[in-house]
Amino acid sequence: MSTGPSEAALPAPAVTIRCRANGPLVVDGPVVITDHLGNRFTIPGTKGNVALCRCGASKNKPFCDGSHRDCGFQAEQLAPAPDAAG
Ligand code: FES
Repeated sequence: MSTGPSEAALPAPAVTIRCRANGPLVVDGPVVITDHLGNRFTIPGTKGNVALCRCGASKNKPFCDGSHRDCGFQAEQLAPAPDAAG
């Protein structure tokens, strides 16, 4: 039974969101981030990515300010391993 196209058959995503172990969600790719009224945040940094807080401790939400290191945030969930059969 097929569950859909294999990952290899999918087009390359424009944006990738990377879960850092015990840390933020790092968004790689061009994005716009708005508040609940639709106003744009200025994205900090110049690396072409942005780290979004997922621990709740940042004093600069929605962005990560490194506070996850001090608040004991734990999140090391892993995605399922790719199917070896492809
Ligand atoms: S994930 Fe870094 S401050 Fe929350």
